[in-house]
Amino acid sequence: MSLKIINAKRIEGLDSNVWIEFTKLAADPSVVNLGQGLPDISPPIYVKEKLSEIAAIDSLNQYTRGFGHPSLVKALACLYEKFYQNQINPNKEILVTVGAYGSLFNAIQGLIDEGDEKPVDGKKWSSSDWTLDPQELASKFNSKTKAIILNTPHNPIGKVYTKEELQVIADLCIKYDTLCISDEVYEWLVYTGNKHLKIATFPGMWERTITIGSAGKTFSVTGWKLGWSIGPHHLIKHLQTVQQNTIYTCATPLQEALAQAFWIDIKRMDDPECYFNSLPKELEVKRDRMVHLLESLGLKPIVPDGGYFIIADVSLLDADLSDMKDSNEPYDYKFVKWMTKNKKLSAIPVSAFCNAETKLQFEKFVRFCFIKKDSTLDAAEEIIKAWTRQKS
Ligand SMILES: Cc1ncc(COP(=O)(O)O)c(C=O)c1O
Repeated sequence: MSLKIINAKRIEGLDSNVWIEFTKLAADPSVVNLGQGLPDISPPIYVKEKLSEIAAIDSLNQYTRGFGHPSLVKALACLYEKFYQNQINPNKEILVTVGAYGSLFNAIQGLIDEGDEKPVDGKKWSSSDWTLDPQELASKFNSKTKAIILNTPHNPIGKVYTKEELQVIADLCIKYDTLCISDEVYEWLVYTGNKHLKIATFPGMWERTITIGSAGKTFSVTGWKLGWSIGPHHLIKHLQTVQQNTIYTCATPLQEALAQAFWIDIKRMDDPECYFNSLPKELEVKRDRMVHLLESLGLKPIVPDGGYFIIADVSLLDADLSDMKDSNEPYDYKFVKWMTKNKKLSAIPVSAFCNAETKLQFEKFVRFCFIKKDSTLDAAEEIIKAWTRQKS
């Protein structure tokens, strides 16, 4: 083997990955997997039916427009115009790509240079009530801050930022002329008492915001890997440049099926049957079930306002982790490995999402996913009940 062929510098240190490591652990069929954010509920029937009908049409099995299949960008423009004050140009202000991650990739590649200031990490809240600390956040901005990545509903604590909190963020972005990449993949998954607001609709924010969505999260079809970016043409055109020089286009049948699924729900948005309304209702019941289960074990989960994850400080369980081998690993990593091995229940360590600054605050937390069918939650309940009995 030639010694000249080695890794590129830009991937150095990126080889280990929490998803790969913990997904492998949870692959044992005897483990109940509440780790990776993967729905095991069925996607809506009409979404699956549309895809199979479309696969039978020859022309829809060939390449389509690179920046987004025409019928899909039209549907997305029609849907999102309902939330923005302005009309959205489907060809110039929307880009369809490979999942929301593809959108993040295009945005970062197209707009951020190596050596630019790192995106602001605003994850430090006053932890009693998880409100954003405006002073803490302001202290992270300076005139060189080029971009922030915003997540609302926030993953992993499931926080939905309030109007006031978003205004604080918007004011800082405007003051420091900062780009906002707003990852809103859980936009429809918001529970009673909360409302998802788009930061791009705040005065002065449209021209500096890229809003990202995901078909996987919208229609419970994560395997479709379709996502989109919406924003002003002066920003989107740079993401389009990245796309035309990398992946070029996304799967045509998936895009057409997604467009047709959107039209079904766009026409009934005030109807409880609309998937944008019915899925959060279904998930709120599952969320509450998970809250009670974790509480029955003696935990105090942080009840999420949105999204489909719930986190809890597991150090309260006082588990004996002495036989977990790698003592340098954070507590949450060791705990999840211990729980997967000994209780046959898997989750994700929250510190995997944190940088060095916020790791300490979250090292004792693990994350459970609750977009699971009742039989999966029943199996988790059995495990937790047996565990509770053992403790007492
Ligand atoms: C906050 C957030 N953004 C983006 C993604 C990626 O979405 P997609 O599968 O559409 O690439 C995920 C997936 O879990 C996510 O949780």
